[in-house]
Amino acid sequence: MNEEQRLAGQVPLAKEKDYSQYFQSVYTPPSLKEAKKRGKEEIFYHVDFAIDEQYRGMGVGRKFYIRTFGCQMNEHDTEVIAGILVGLGYESTNDVKDADVVLLNTCAIRENAENKVFGELGHYKSLKIDRPDMLIGVCGCMSQEESVVNKILKTYDQVDMVFGTHNIHRLPSILNEAYLSKEMVVEVWSKEGDIIENLPRVRKGSIKGWVNIMYGCDKFCTYCIVPYTRGKERSRRPEDIIQEVRQLAAAGYQEITLLGQNVNAYGKDFEDGEYRLGDLMDELRKIDIPRIRFTTSHPRDFDDQLIEVLAKGGNLVDHIHLPVQSGSTEILKIMSRKYSRESFLELVSKIKRAIPNVTLTTDIIVGFPNETEEQFEETISLYKEVGFDMAFTYIYSPREGTPAARMQDNVSMEVKKDRLQRLNTVVNGLSAEALKPYKGKVVNVLVEGESKRNKEVLSGYTEKSKLVNFRAPACVIGKIVQVRITDAKSWSLDGEYIGILEEEKVMS
Ligand code: 5AD
Ligand code: SF4
Repeated sequence: MNEEQRLAGQVPLAKEKDYSQYFQSVYTPPSLKEAKKRGKEEIFYHVDFAIDEQYRGMGVGRKFYIRTFGCQMNEHDTEVIAGILVGLGYESTNDVKDADVVLLNTCAIRENAENKVFGELGHYKSLKIDRPDMLIGVCGCMSQEESVVNKILKTYDQVDMVFGTHNIHRLPSILNEAYLSKEMVVEVWSKEGDIIENLPRVRKGSIKGWVNIMYGCDKFCTYCIVPYTRGKERSRRPEDIIQEVRQLAAAGYQEITLLGQNVNAYGKDFEDGEYRLGDLMDELRKIDIPRIRFTTSHPRDFDDQLIEVLAKGGNLVDHIHLPVQSGSTEILKIMSRKYSRESFLELVSKIKRAIPNVTLTTDIIVGFPNETEEQFEETISLYKEVGFDMAFTYIYSPREGTPAARMQDNVSMEVKKDRLQRLNTVVNGLSAEALKPYKGKVVNVLVEGESKRNKEVLSGYTEKSKLVNFRAPACVIGKIVQVRITDAKSWSLDGEYIGILEEEKVMS
């Protein structure tokens, strides 16, 4: 397909593609080795997803339950899975015992995420004995790992089907196979599929929406399993993204988050490679929707054009999540992050110069193989130097098949835990500090609903993702309101409701 055809929307239809290379039967297990390959094959855009006539009505009178683990990408996939199931006639239930189809949408990023899934699967053993007609499925990133599928095959015979991240759109036929087959249905593609537009979706909530802008990751940071479980970088076409955001705006959504494993690589895979995230954001900011965020970005691809566009402000929020992982150039090198402490700090200065009010948050891994005390302290000092508002912090978890998992490691778990605790003390201290200046100020809050702790209080988030609790009538849920901050706690702000923010003010 050439660029002209692409822009004219002349994309090959799904049925033109022969998928026989991916699966021969109901048993197609994953292979990390295959998943690692980065072929030059063209990515096809399919615009004609439809549920096959033969499967329609499959779910009538039946209910489904999905439990989602992990990141926003999984949350987003769950919305698509739910959309397909509803299209088949199934109804959603929040009670697993009441469900006819139970799906675990899994996360492979760290061992403890995987353990949670195996624990949950263990609980389903008795459920399946009570309800032998119930179908139990495992999907998401863990399904893409050979070791996981082997373990499920060997130990978890309560599981009826396993499918991966690249073939969610094949769920109707996978379910059909599972109803017919006595064997576990395993269909996992190790080679990424194409981009399928118009998949049905049941969005969770009507205030904030996810919009996927790209799939996969080509960065291959040495600790990370994602490039294997999510395949190579594939960008959705700008026109499809813009249309989706417009539809969400028209439906009254107040905030959208553009999603991708590495959103800064957006557009790199297009033929000319010239249309990038900055261009996309520049178009999206003109859409009448109050807030636009993106996650997650890689410092390496964060270009000047993007910074320039973000500096235009408006509905592009001044909060950037920029995972640094470590403050030590040596560790960053072994992680294959392809930037140094110095170049990261330079990028931060550039962003701060362009967007003086910017809030930065990050991800950090401690206890990477052979991390020394000095290298760990460099992470602490970088954290303070940047003045991050918040961080997600993790102890390094070896992932089978990744280069880091093969490295000798001389750091004990005790030391790793101690480092995490010391880092968290710094992170929590700075988070609380960042909230103090809000006292007495007026902020704009997107009201999400009742506070989890106190039903009489409403809560929501500022543009900079600060949690605010306040009393106001329930009719403001879903709106952006002004709140005067009266108290800054360690994790959240308390305030007094002033009133609904006029639309003009939000957009100015
Ligand atoms: N161990 C610990 N943390 C990890 N992350 C990714 N892979 C690993 C791993 N093997 C963290 C990174 C990433 C976040 C989503 O998860 O910090 O940014
Ligand atoms: Fe994993 Fe690195 Fe890709 Fe992020 S950029 S998903 S950490 S490989």
